[in-house]
Amino acid sequence: MMPTKVSIFEVGARDGLQNEQPVSTTAKMQLIAELADAGLTRIEAGSFVSPKWVPQMADSAQILQQIPRVKGVTYSALTPNLKGFELALNAGADEVAIFGAASQSFSQKNINCSIEESIERFIPLMEKAKQHNIAVRGYVSCVLGCPYEGKIEVAEVARVSEILYKMGCYEISLGDTIGIGTPTDARRMVQAVSEVVPISQLALHFHDTYGQALANILACLDLGISTFDASVAGLGGCPYAKGASGNLATEDLVYMLHGMGIETNIDLSKLAKAGHNISAVLGRPSGSKVANALK
Ligand code: HMG
Ligand code: MG
Repeated sequence: MMPTKVSIFEVGARDGLQNEQPVSTTAKMQLIAELADAGLTRIEAGSFVSPKWVPQMADSAQILQQIPRVKGVTYSALTPNLKGFELALNAGADEVAIFGAASQSFSQKNINCSIEESIERFIPLMEKAKQHNIAVRGYVSCVLGCPYEGKIEVAEVARVSEILYKMGCYEISLGDTIGIGTPTDARRMVQAVSEVVPISQLALHFHDTYGQALANILACLDLGISTFDASVAGLGGCPYAKGASGNLATEDLVYMLHGMGIETNIDLSKLAKAGHNISAVLGRPSGSKVANALK
């Protein structure tokens, strides 16, 4: 059955801007404020990763400390290890996300360790998060393919998702990191994962590299998934997945959902404006078809 409302998890300020030319802290804070004003209530604001690896996210603490908080909005951050968690906690992140992968090679390139080692690193982080009552989201990358290994078995996606869920992640976000999947595969993968993680606790995080993200979401919409990650103006990519473009543009997702009578509580025109503003900072047009059509 189709959902009547869905939750959108906005990743533009993190997934988007981690892979763009560096923008000022002020411009990032402006973007986050405009996203909240457009009605987004779940905003990924940065990452606590090595600034040598991802210099674009080096000001995440400053952002979380200084951003004027809007009531009802959750400001979250990526944390690959205990060190990152402690920095996020000190900066005032409302929730954090650990990120693993269903591909060994991607895990090595992205976080410099194997899948098993990453799980070991997550254990103390999860314990500390529990002590501080901080919710933890879990990402699994390469769910529909890997830039280094190609095809990834759905059984491996399900295995890693189940581990993260059983460790205490409240939601598992399934990442098509390189946007390579097509609708039949996306649906099959979600069905397999939903056998080990309740479908209500799954989110889809589809990059739009091959222009398939909206079709893939539509193919999974009646399975009971009601959380989708998206990036305003289609910002970004992943520095450790060469050629990956940004996530599905939030504007395009919202337009489709509203057209289908599915509620998001997002003001599309304010959202499109936020996307145009950050795109202007980057010196290029918005990557959202809908935002450009509405202009
Ligand atoms: P490492 O080198 O294996 O870690 O990196 P280490 O523990 O040996 O530490 C090395 C140095 O990093 C030390 O500093 C640490 O202090 C520092 P040094 O002594 O050399 O000066 N360090 C840190 N600094 C800040 N924050 C931390 C931290 N941890 C260690 N948390 C590490 C391991 C994970 C840190 C590194 O590989 C890294 O930062 N990788 C970047 C990963 C990343 O941000 N990738 C992009 C996000 S994931 C993504 O986009 C996919 C997703 O969107 C889903 C999808 O689309 O599929 C989520
Ligand atoms: Mg991503």
